Amino acid sequence: MQGKHIVLGITGGIAAYKSAELTRLLVKNGVTVQIVMTASAQFFVTPLTFHALSGLPVVTETMTANDAMPHISLGRNTDLMLIAPATADFIARLAQGRADDVLSAACLARDCSLWIAPAMNRQMWQNPATQRNVSLLQQDGIHVIAPASGAQACGEEGAGRLPEPEELLALIKAHFTDTPLSGKPLAGKRVLITAGPTQEAIDPVRVISNLSSGKMGYAMAQAAWEAGAEVTLISGPVCLPAPANVTRIDVICAESMLHAVMSRIPATDIFISVAAVADYRPRHPSSTKIHKSDATQQLELVPTTDILAQVAQAPHAPFCVGFAAETEDFVARGEAKRRRKHLPLLAVNDAKTALGSDDNTLTLLDDDGVHPLPRGHKLVLARQVVTHLASLYFRSPDKRQVP
Ligand code: CTP
Repeated sequence: MQGKHIVLGITGGIAAYKSAELTRLLVKNGVTVQIVMTASAQFFVTPLTFHALSGLPVVTETMTANDAMPHISLGRNTDLMLIAPATADFIARLAQGRADDVLSAACLARDCSLWIAPAMNRQMWQNPATQRNVSLLQQDGIHVIAPASGAQACGEEGAGRLPEPEELLALIKAHFTDTPLSGKPLAGKRVLITAGPTQEAIDPVRVISNLSSGKMGYAMAQAAWEAGAEVTLISGPVCLPAPANVTRIDVICAESMLHAVMSRIPATDIFISVAAVADYRPRHPSSTKIHKSDATQQLELVPTTDILAQVAQAPHAPFCVGFAAETEDFVARGEAKRRRKHLPLLAVNDAKTALGSDDNTLTLLDDDGVHPLPRGHKLVLARQVVTHLASLYFRSPDKRQVP
């Protein structure tokens, strides 16, 4: 990160206060940070705060006495432009290609990567208009950092929080230290990926689910697409934006995920099963809300279908990659699972540290043995998994050994 130059754009949301800490962390890591603020951002935090933290005057105007065209100079010789927080209004203006203030004009005139970190009320984030704008930006190659979930400044609870400054710093660090995939090892291959948790209905308002965030599966989708594959992502309920150019199919329960997967297997070359599929579902979900009573409630559970095992056993099965979430005996348990499900490759996670986190530790298991990967950002690891699986896939497609 030392010596990098970042333009940090701040738009008008309460999360602007977190950008002050992000600025401090970036400067501490040797980054030159040029702050640009919209007019409404200055209602939340003053330019003086950012001037003091970055050591550079803050750009707020389209023209100044010293620089007639700051919107042009900002995006030159810059390694990254990051808008954090990015409000719904700014995202809408960016999606329209507007240039009616210095920040939007600089985004339009840039010749570097642009990232946005949306932050807003959960309903504003979920609104189809915002989602449409976000997806337009992704199609334009702009990287969208998924908002975090939790308590919001307005008192509501849900997705739309700006990730913590340390998390944003980790993402930026990973971006600058990661080795991009060389070439397009999966060019022309059709890759099907499952991600996220499933929800199994108890009644219309209650479910059995798990803490999977979907981040690893979405990172795999991004990495497979970067590697040239045509990617379909079958996603359980998560609050993440789909990577650009990936076809996303939303499902809720294990049964619907199974159908979505099986119907696409004939047109799939590689199946990567990252989803934390519920292993059990209530045998008789109630069609009406179950009301409280003093008596003990019994819930009868039946096993769900193991989607990965079913795919791996199918005639003309695609190349199958599994992910195992374990809390102990990682390699032994992972290897047993790989053999039981007949997989050429399986990645084991430590469930205790992986769930919900942006970072992960993975160990790859294949017929050659055990390949630990150093702890890192999930996208960095996903690229390594893709490189590894591509090398196995192309080793000898007809004579691939399946345990
Ligand atoms: N998997 C699946 N369908 C299921 C359960 C798991 O496709 N019903 C897949 C997961 O996507 C993952 C792999 O199987 O790729 C291993 O999942 P994991 O939850 O670690 O193991 P399980 O097989 O469910 O076994 P256990 O819960 O006993 O660890």
